[in-house]
Amino acid sequence: VVPGARALAGTAGPGLLALLLAVSAPLRLQAEELGDGCGHLVTYQDSGTMTSKNYPGTYPNHTVCERTITVPKGKRLILRLGDLDIESQTCASDYLLFTSSSDQYGPYCGSMTVPKELLLNTSEVTVRFESGSHISGRGFLLTYASSDHPDLITCLERASHYLKTEYSKFCPAGCKDVAGDISGNMVDGYRDTSLLCKAAIHAGIIADELGGQISVLQHKGISRYEGILANGVLSRDGSLSDRRFLFTSNGCSRSLSLEPDGQIRASSSWQSVNESGDQVHWSPGQARLQDQGPSWASGDSSNNHKPREWLEIDLGEKKKITGIRTTGSTQSNFNFYVKSFVMNFKNNNSKWKTYKGIVNNEEKVFQGNSNFRDPVQNNFIPPIVARYVRVVPQTWHQRIALKVELIGCQITQGNDSLVWRKTTQSTSVSTEKEDETITRPIPSEEMPTGMNITTVAIPLVLLVALLLAGMGIFAAFRKKKKKGSPYGSAEAQKTDCWKQIKYPFARHQSAEFTISYDNEKEMTQKLDLITSDMAG
Ligand SMILES: *[C@@H]1O[C@H](CO)[C@@H](O)[C@H](O)[C@H]1NC(C)=O
Ligand SMILES: *[C@@H]1O[C@H](CO)[C@@H](O)[C@H](O)[C@H]1NC(C)=O
Ligand SMILES: *[C@@H]1O[C@H](CO)[C@@H](O)[C@H](O)[C@H]1NC(C)=O
Ligand SMILES: *[C@@H]1O[C@H](CO)[C@@H](O)[C@H](O)[C@H]1NC(C)=O
Ligand SMILES: *[C@@H]1O[C@H](CO)[C@@H](O)[C@H](O)[C@H]1NC(C)=O
Repeated sequence: VVPGARALAGTAGPGLLALLLAVSAPLRLQAEELGDGCGHLVTYQDSGTMTSKNYPGTYPNHTVCERTITVPKGKRLILRLGDLDIESQTCASDYLLFTSSSDQYGPYCGSMTVPKELLLNTSEVTVRFESGSHISGRGFLLTYASSDHPDLITCLERASHYLKTEYSKFCPAGCKDVAGDISGNMVDGYRDTSLLCKAAIHAGIIADELGGQISVLQHKGISRYEGILANGVLSRDGSLSDRRFLFTSNGCSRSLSLEPDGQIRASSSWQSVNESGDQVHWSPGQARLQDQGPSWASGDSSNNHKPREWLEIDLGEKKKITGIRTTGSTQSNFNFYVKSFVMNFKNNNSKWKTYKGIVNNEEKVFQGNSNFRDPVQNNFIPPIVARYVRVVPQTWHQRIALKVELIGCQITQGNDSLVWRKTTQSTSVSTEKEDETITRPIPSEEMPTGMNITTVAIPLVLLVALLLAGMGIFAAFRKKKKKGSPYGSAEAQKTDCWKQIKYPFARHQSAEFTISYDNEKEMTQKLDLITSDMAG
């Protein structure tokens, strides 16, 4: 955007209009070209994941992908290449290249030996991938992190790559949607052929949008691995393996639903009539996951998908809630289940709050069940600390029907903050870093916002420029008449125009980026809120 603005400023004065139109077209074209060959891209504060387009399928002919990756200032950047498969022996038209302010790494291609990891001495690097005409090749997958995480791995590492019985690694943000299988579950463990970071997201150890540290324990394998849907990741059933792995967690994963003092209420409930003509109640009390029989179901069977039904659980006292397991009706002749839901929570006398995502600050919609029978787990990172929680279904199949189990632990009195710090190390660390990053735009948003600004701002700029051009021509004529020396004044005008034209750009840009600033602020607020709630 800035070079575009500079170009606009450079052509200020007579003849501006014609050039303006010529400038605005290439500006957009360039933005599209540079984003064209990029695939999956997730970044968060100090780590992320990036692939070429279609990865692990074949990347397209004649594309370019160029992105600048940054970690907080003062930190060094670590790049790890998980996969590189570029069909070229000369790197002439197909290559991957990293450029920092002091060094250049690459170009890499073909069968050349490529370093698995690069430790840069800068906090910023530009990644450029280019392709010509080719038949095959997966392209690349890379992850990055700041030097605070020297144990960074890529999304493609599997437990079978490591021999130690116990180890700790750092998973970058963005591994959830990278192709590759996992099998098993958080209770029995995962087959050793499973992807480590994806399994950690499945197990609720890290959130995909944040990444984080994982601690892995190897165990002897078991004969069968049972797959479930959890945190939006589906694990598969697996067969006998020599080894499996489990994650060490903070221990806050007890079932909270067995509490005898727990109360369950709902917005409405349903009564059906069975074959023998008796009434069957689908009352809120039947929403306990461990109980047999039909679940809770909402009274309203209409298909108007307005989310206004809820199921409320009173835990009797404030607890730390780290996850929820849900099922549908569990009755084969009633194919009812909740496909997505949001969570509300409150304490004794406070107002209901909605659980929000850390990164986008929107209410977080959890992926629920996909059939009436199988339990699905979702984890809260950071945890909810509350006495009352509500499950508010957003979409469902036929009728809202739910059984739930909350997962979490007691809040230990006296040393609450210690517990908090211990269990959410990664999130509290990232808030501390917030001050450094707050004035920096998030790199991932550079290209898309650039394009948005172009489309939004060009008409505005045209208007402003038209006005200025009019004024400029007028002023130039007047000065010409007065002094007869257009050059000096044209220089002055140029800087004037630069300031004024730059302004709409700057405004749009900051409006775009405010979204991310707000998130970061909101996150601290959220953390403050939870910690202060716990203290209270
Ligand atoms: C970074 O490393 C390069 C060589 O790899 C060196 O020339 C440069 O001076 C280094 N910069 C800093 C700031 O250390
Ligand atoms: C690239 O173009 C060549 C020749 O036109 C074609 O054979 C090849 O299939 C194309 N590759 C891809 C990945 O589309
Ligand atoms: C109908 O419901 C009644 C009461 O819950 C139960 O005793 C009876 O077995 C049910 N009949 C059938 C066919 O399920
Ligand atoms: C909330 O209410 C319960 C019982 O009604 C009480 O035991 C508890 O102390 C209250 N908590 C707060 C923070 O007021
Ligand atoms: C909390 O404090 C008690 C004693 O004051 C101590 O035994 C316990 O280990 C502490 N818990 C944590 C998690 O620090």
